[in-house]
Amino acid sequence: MDTATADLLRKEIERERARNAPPADFPDLPPIPRARYTDPAFHELERTYIFDRSWLYAGSGWELPDAGDYKSFDNFGRAPILLLRGKDMKVRAFYNTCQHRGATITREPCGKAGSRLKCQFHSWTYDLEGKLVGIPGPWDFSPDLDKSKHNLKPVRCEMWGEHIFINFDDGAPDLLTFLGPVAVDFEWASKLRPSNRRSRVMACNWRIAIEAFIEVYHITTIHPGSVADSIDYRGTVSSFFPNGHSRMIVPSTPKHYQAPPETIPEDWDEGRALRGEANVSYHIFPNLLTPASQTGYMLMEFWPLDHNHTEIVTWVVDRDWGEGPPPPEYDQRGAYFDTVLDEDTWNMEHIQHSLRSSAFAGPKCSYHEKRIYYLEEHVDTALGVERVPEHLRVQPLLSDRIVTTAGAI
Ligand code: FES
Ligand SMILES: [Fe+2]
Repeated sequence: MDTATADLLRKEIERERARNAPPADFPDLPPIPRARYTDPAFHELERTYIFDRSWLYAGSGWELPDAGDYKSFDNFGRAPILLLRGKDMKVRAFYNTCQHRGATITREPCGKAGSRLKCQFHSWTYDLEGKLVGIPGPWDFSPDLDKSKHNLKPVRCEMWGEHIFINFDDGAPDLLTFLGPVAVDFEWASKLRPSNRRSRVMACNWRIAIEAFIEVYHITTIHPGSVADSIDYRGTVSSFFPNGHSRMIVPSTPKHYQAPPETIPEDWDEGRALRGEANVSYHIFPNLLTPASQTGYMLMEFWPLDHNHTEIVTWVVDRDWGEGPPPPEYDQRGAYFDTVLDEDTWNMEHIQHSLRSSAFAGPKCSYHEKRIYYLEEHVDTALGVERVPEHLRVQPLLSDRIVTTAGAI
């Protein structure tokens, strides 16, 4: 981030802090129809038109350092997936489905395949580029069997720094185009190393879970002994980016202000200075959040298991520590964030319960909570408004406020 952008954001923080009412041109946001969070048919639309068409976080290159290293997972609700680093060191994604009888090739969450990947059922063997290279007992198969028709089925896979994303839609724009200004603004963070994976499942819709983290109106009531002490929500600056992404900057309280170090590192930029003065976080549509500190951030993934269950996965992401386990301060940070998460998740299942009741029209967002409304508005855009039943639509009110460059507000 350059100095002019950081200064613009600092001025904006002061402007937000000084106001006593929403900006005069800001609309009164109507309630978000509650059934968007509870209707299984609406969730099916999301699976088809959002999760099957967006770039989804699949892991980090740090998890597959050598050729033949793999990672397998099944959190997309579509099919088991395998990431595999080839001899050329490129990371590729495949359906983790053997082309013989459909077995999951490996059930290990990660491992080292060496130079060949062998299915755990009858040992059909694939090379590191997914090509079928070995069939035991060939005498029982037709001599005309064309092996090339039974290679592993690939899934689109692209990297942003060390972050690996996949996309089930062959027609989607490339990853950097999809990320847009986020890729510029957040570029500093794309090569950092994740550690301390933690996971929890909540009985609530995936957007109820995310929406608790894209506003900080709740900090004094939910986090009185933790976060409330470190950030001042009155100065929050929020920006909407294309494709549903958004950014939130919340100034630190004076007590938590982190001055630049005495010796400025070579890779220092104004973005880092700003992150010492404020919490800068992104929502990467559909399901990633990145609350950041000066040197790193928490990566949060939100995976819908069905319309009212969500897995929340968190990682501590920071500078590479080299060999061995991560430093103790990374573990401490992960443990601290987990207690904050206990506070944040406390209301989620109860909100989900209330959303089933006709006593509640649906979430009513303030100016401060506008990122929630923008997320909902973009969900309709991504689904195609004509596919959304009329009573479930949100009124399009914010999309003319999207900014297309990282430096804009
Ligand atoms: S299902 Fe994989 S080798 Fe038979
Ligand atoms: Fe919170």
